[in-house]
Amino acid sequence: MSIIIKSFIDIKKIRIVSRIVSEVLFYISKYIKPGVSTGEIDFICNKRIIDYHKAFPACLGYMDYPKSICTSVNDVVCHGIPNFDQILKKGDIINIDVAIVKNKYYSDASKMYFVGKPSQLSFDLCRITYNSVIKALKYIGPGKKLNIIGKIIQDYVEKNGYSVVRNYCGHGIGKKLHEEPQVLHYYSNINDNIILKSGMIFTIEPMVNVGSYKTKVMDDGWTVKTVDGGLSAQYEFTVLITDYGYEILTF
Ligand code: MF3
Ligand code: CO
Repeated sequence: MSIIIKSFIDIKKIRIVSRIVSEVLFYISKYIKPGVSTGEIDFICNKRIIDYHKAFPACLGYMDYPKSICTSVNDVVCHGIPNFDQILKKGDIINIDVAIVKNKYYSDASKMYFVGKPSQLSFDLCRITYNSVIKALKYIGPGKKLNIIGKIIQDYVEKNGYSVVRNYCGHGIGKKLHEEPQVLHYYSNINDNIILKSGMIFTIEPMVNVGSYKTKVMDDGWTVKTVDGGLSAQYEFTVLITDYGYEILTF
């Protein structure tokens, strides 16, 4: 039960894999358009990660997960499994979640993409989700409490009329994909005594719903959807706590 403080070497290596994650999220953007299947998106990311970056997609085989990335469309909250039969159409929103391991170090990030022109609601949902992370980042740094992250995100999201998913959280990351601590995106006093320190690396990855925060897991054992069928958005960043504040590693 302890949070690893990363060494200079650890940070250097996590920076390298983080740049790869960011590049893949940028590279895939030109393929996101009506008519493309999530299976093709997965295939393209798999090739980019393995053949171009000489790295490995951390999701592939993780607890028997069958694909290289997660593709979560519209009311899918997270962990959507790419599929060649699932064709993107105009107006869809999709989260692409890329976790990579290279030289034994992990990084993890995700972002939202619009398929054609988004509805006003889709656009606003994504904007508020993104801004909620930025708001939390403004307050974090060494000496600050971990659980202010959840408080800031929840306050901002709910003030804007949306809800924060409770069942999934951010996580420490480094030599493992999931390390301590759990980073909640809503306020809880569970983590009340955890103080951020320079050298900690963790993800912040709120899932925000238009309707209820409640989620259900589908029969495939992975795909998580909103219970009420409402839209859901997510942004994920791998973040380093520095001596003076923070740095987003997956830019
Ligand atoms: N990025 C996801 C996370 O934060 C990765 C999940 S692993 C998968 O945990 F197997 F679901 F893909
Ligand atoms: Co993650």
